[in-house]
Amino acid sequence: MTENILAMNKFKILSIIAVVTVVSVLLTACGKDKRSTGWEYAPNMYEHIAYDPDQPNTNFKDGKTAQLPPAGTIPIGFVRFDYPNTKEGYERASVEVVNKYIATKQSLADGKILFEHFCSPCHGIQGQGDGLVVQHGFPAPPSYSKGNSSRGGAMKDLTDGKIYHTITYGLNAMGSYASQLAPDERWKVVLYVHQLQKL
Ligand code: HEC
Repeated sequence: MTENILAMNKFKILSIIAVVTVVSVLLTACGKDKRSTGWEYAPNMYEHIAYDPDQPNTNFKDGKTAQLPPAGTIPIGFVRFDYPNTKEGYERASVEVVNKYIATKQSLADGKILFEHFCSPCHGIQGQGDGLVVQHGFPAPPSYSKGNSSRGGAMKDLTDGKIYHTITYGLNAMGSYASQLAPDERWKVVLYVHQLQKL
């Protein structure tokens, strides 16, 4: 008796599967338009009311949806540094820009790690201009404590603004670190360079 019921159930299940398959094939495959997506569930998700960035748009003069931001717009969270990559910008940053971080155990520890990763290959762990790549022939940067800057003055007197300007834009053989170090990180490195200037 139980075997009979099982056999009947099997037949039922099989016929339900067959019906569902046939119906779904009929519903999805019968469009005349080959590019049609067929029967869409919740079509609002495909054909939404909002414009796509690449869609034509009559609301704007140039007929495009993607508009350029108005001149002078800056992204949220962007930190401005209004000193150009010139000697004049460097000198002006030196007078006007002050590190917003103060030297604490934590900020110096952060600066040390960043310095050792990004700067020590050239400047050396102690900032003496004897890093690993210098030992392999790269032009040696001047020592932070004993050398002179190619832009004039002793390296030990470099100010917050001058060091920050250098990290942001680079200088001759040294590249810019603006894409590797966020402004906050650059300021922590500046704190640590001040420590090395005292050696
Ligand atoms: C690829 C090697 C290299 C790396 C990496 C490097 N520097 Fe330099 N740096 C130099 C050289 C070379 C100079 C000397 C440039 C000159 O005066 O022509 C220099 C100069 C400087 C100066 C002196 C600027 C001045 O006004 O005279 C500072 C400050 C400085 N680097 C800081 C840093 C800091 C901070 C980092 C890490 C974020 C760093 N550097 C990473 C090679 C490097």
